Amino acid sequence: MRTIDVNIPGREYKIYIEGGLLGRCASILGPIVKGRKAAVITDTNVAPLYYEEMERQLSAAGASPFKVVVEAGENSKSLSVFERVCGEIMENDFSRADCVVALGGGVVGDLAGFAASTILRGVTLVQVPTTLLSQVDSSVGGKTAVNLSCGKNLVGTFYQPSAVIIDMDTLSTLPQREMACGMAEIIKYAAIRDKEMGERLLDGDYELADIVARCCEIKAEIVVNDERDTGERMLLNFGHTIGHAVENYYGYGTLSHGAAVAIGMCIMTEYAEKMGYTKKGTLDIIKALNEKYGLPTGCGHRAELAGAAGHDKKRKGDSLSIVLVREMGDGYYMKVNKSALEDIVRG
Ligand SMILES: NC(=O)c1ccc[n+]([C@@H]2O[C@H](COP(=O)([O-])OP(=O)(O)OC[C@H]3O[C@@H](n4cnc5c(N)ncnc54)[C@H](O)[C@@H]3O)[C@@H](O)[C@H]2O)c1
Repeated sequence: MRTIDVNIPGREYKIYIEGGLLGRCASILGPIVKGRKAAVITDTNVAPLYYEEMERQLSAAGASPFKVVVEAGENSKSLSVFERVCGEIMENDFSRADCVVALGGGVVGDLAGFAASTILRGVTLVQVPTTLLSQVDSSVGGKTAVNLSCGKNLVGTFYQPSAVIIDMDTLSTLPQREMACGMAEIIKYAAIRDKEMGERLLDGDYELADIVARCCEIKAEIVVNDERDTGERMLLNFGHTIGHAVENYYGYGTLSHGAAVAIGMCIMTEYAEKMGYTKKGTLDIIKALNEKYGLPTGCGHRAELAGAAGHDKKRKGDSLSIVLVREMGDGYYMKVNKSALEDIVRG
């Protein structure tokens, strides 16, 4: 089993990674959940696949589990679903000594994390991520959130889990489109922090569990240095600023989030190479990685997209931080004028 330590002072925890771990995680859960109620928040796709095993392991660990199911999909990250979930949990005579388990992808993880951080002013949280994206990104680092109708992730907290349990075998049921979303984040980690991982991804010579572990390690390092997202953590936004503009322009759902991030990484690197900020040839590597993992390398309508990015009403202030790479494995960020984003996207 691979384990990664997340050493945030006073809130240290471990990430456990192994194929089949869900079926034998009782010993990890024991010290955290023994003698407590465990509200397992999950969704309509994941519950039939993995709830029964989760329940078995929690019971074996000495907890009393019960299930709270939300509709699969981003719409469940809402205040109304949050209220319903909290209500269901409290109807089970939940106390501050009890705990919440997030069993699912990033939607469940963000919603359950937000619930755990606010119910009775905060209860213990365990993350059991079941999508590649949530395994390498959203389950680690403690950002929780729900969406408002005017924007994504606008209400939330920083709240660290007590453990993250990653069973690689849960990916066997994950649709290809969702796998590609996770791969986009993995390519991002290679671009900002690990050139050698990028090479292995291109060769195809690796075990996915090692890649997931390396991504968790990178995220843990970054989060320990900058939990509140005021500096280094911004590196994790590589491809995302333009990715959000792409998603907005094409309409959420038309293009997956991962595809939009993949396009964002390419547009940003194309600009940075042209400006001499990025070593020539880096764009070719990022494009080759995207192609290998079924992700796009660009999109049309760049002038219209530029206009939309420039007129994003949610962007406040005159400047914004953009993330670039000097070369593969070496990410950095800089502040630019808001209008620069329009030029970057226009190309
Ligand atoms: N907190 C953070 O730091 C952070 C970081 C990145 C993304 N996010 C958030 O994560 C969310 C996206 O997460 P996601 O991509 O995991 O989406 P998701 O949770 O919607 O999962 C994608 C789909 O896969 C299904 N699914 C999950 N596990 C499965 C499995 N093992 N087998 C079959 N189907 C399965 C889900 O039911 C859903 O339909 C967004 O809301 C985003 O804002 C948060």
